[in-house]
Amino acid sequence: FTVPAELESKMDEVITHYPVSKRSAVLPLLHLMQEHYRFISDDIVNWVAAKLGLEPIQVLEVVTFYPGFRQSAPGKYHIRVCRTLSCAMTGSYELMDALCKEAKIDRSHCDHHHPIAVSEDGKYSIEFAECLASCGFGPVCMVEDDFFEKVEPAKAAELLAKYP
Ligand code: FES
Repeated sequence: FTVPAELESKMDEVITHYPVSKRSAVLPLLHLMQEHYRFISDDIVNWVAAKLGLEPIQVLEVVTFYPGFRQSAPGKYHIRVCRTLSCAMTGSYELMDALCKEAKIDRSHCDHHHPIAVSEDGKYSIEFAECLASCGFGPVCMVEDDFFEKVEPAKAAELLAKYP
């Protein structure tokens, strides 16, 4: 497993922000990795561990602790549906059902953060997320970095149509 030189030098730069202990750079490094590779593979866990002088299990603990990290490959468009209380009360579970149906994703795979569920054609993947910080406007979801509020389940097809 080889990391592109440009990405590695970005990480080297980040590590300089942690002069006391480079191990503290584990979070920003994982974010850079996920940005680049779209998910955190075992190879990435091992690479980051070696880079920071940690055991792979220590890096893995961080990956599994933070729900923002994915451990399996997402689809071309990754969808996150908030399932925290306000959104759940305004229909986020129904929205999840509708999005899965439209995207032809097996809904039974969407009950945990990991693994995420991917459509058969690889176009869409979906996961539940915790509060996305717009609780008064549920149900809230994100497609890649785009943010959507008050998404009626009936509008699921319309939403996905924006991501062909
Ligand atoms: Fe969904 Fe906060 S509860 S955004």
